Amino acid sequence: MTIPGFTSTGSKRPDALFGNAPGAPQLRMTRAEGCCVWDTEGREYIDTVMALGAVALGYGHPVVNEAVRQAVADGAVGSLPPVHEAEVAERLQQAIPLCEAVRFLKTGAEAVAAAVRIARVHTGRERVIASGYHGWLDWCVDGPGVPMAVRTLTESIEPGDVGALERAFGEAGPVAAVVLEPAVNGPPRPEWLERARQLASRHGAVLVFDEIKTAFRVAIGGVAELTGITPDLIVLGKALGNGMPISVVGGAAPLMEAATETWISSTLATEYVSLAAARAVLHTYASEPVIEQLRESGAAFYGVLERIADAHGDFVTGVCGMPQLCYLTFRSEETGGRVARAALERGLLFKRSAYNYVSLAHTDEVLAQVEERLSAALAQVATSC
Ligand SMILES: Cc1ncc(COP(=O)(O)O)c(C=O)c1O
Repeated sequence: MTIPGFTSTGSKRPDALFGNAPGAPQLRMTRAEGCCVWDTEGREYIDTVMALGAVALGYGHPVVNEAVRQAVADGAVGSLPPVHEAEVAERLQQAIPLCEAVRFLKTGAEAVAAAVRIARVHTGRERVIASGYHGWLDWCVDGPGVPMAVRTLTESIEPGDVGALERAFGEAGPVAAVVLEPAVNGPPRPEWLERARQLASRHGAVLVFDEIKTAFRVAIGGVAELTGITPDLIVLGKALGNGMPISVVGGAAPLMEAATETWISSTLATEYVSLAAARAVLHTYASEPVIEQLRESGAAFYGVLERIADAHGDFVTGVCGMPQLCYLTFRSEETGGRVARAALERGLLFKRSAYNYVSLAHTDEVLAQVEERLSAALAQVATSC
């Protein structure tokens, strides 16, 4: 295998998409447009995985594509910081006021790691409390290859577990940062976020909302905007680039100054194809009711999942998430895999037990097709259960 594990993005591995059954399809794609992708055999799939949430306006959105084309024609990268960087920073500040100052990076994992570094510099402390998924870098992963000395600096707690949060603050010394995914498996729980806000403020820790999935989906400013609960730092990514690699850590200007006291830098953080894409995305969100449309089509998609869960209560155990990012849960891993494979056979890429996302390209007609294909897939699985 020239690529260990088949692919460089773990969540696109055949087993991650279609389960562990022998003969699970090993597909690669050649093209994407709107809400569809095409495989090497030319088969077309309606997609509700949407590049793991990286695309909200639809694949190949014309405004973003034009911006990208222009940036490529303008050379893509150079030896001076590009004007695009300052422009996107300014537009972000207008769109998300808590982003008084920002730093750009390429991946979500990098931007969250930068937030942790900034918090450590600012507080002079090392311990971190984390809740949710924050990428693959050492500070938040507990597994092979991560030194024990690094692992002991981060305490992971279950989302919503206020008691665990209080204990984590009380236990092993001063805390530099609390890093939370502010909505996990359902709508945000304000009492949990408010308690995190209170404890972080009381203990002088930096509160970080990792809004990689939620910003530009549930609201432009993510759960922070939706709930009015303001973190010290916010981390953005995915939909901001509509498929181009860009991520952001942002917050109050004095706190973000800590980024200049440590080394956070990457050669291509300032390539301007992605920055131009982000500028076009921000322009689109400012000039069109994108959030409203995502809410509406999300609600329609969530309704599809609820009807399916009702019809197959014997092996579908529920619907989780928020309308803009949601999924079905199944009696077993194996059943979820069978559903994903049956959906694929019907021309639908559907993520099992992890987030599916709508985009602007998921019109009512498309969602009617999604319902038809998913219902047929579930009916097939039901006959063999
Ligand atoms: C909440 C959250 N944080 C961080 C990450 C990591 O982002 P990336 O895969 O771009 O490194 C993800 C990716 O899914 C995520 O959902």
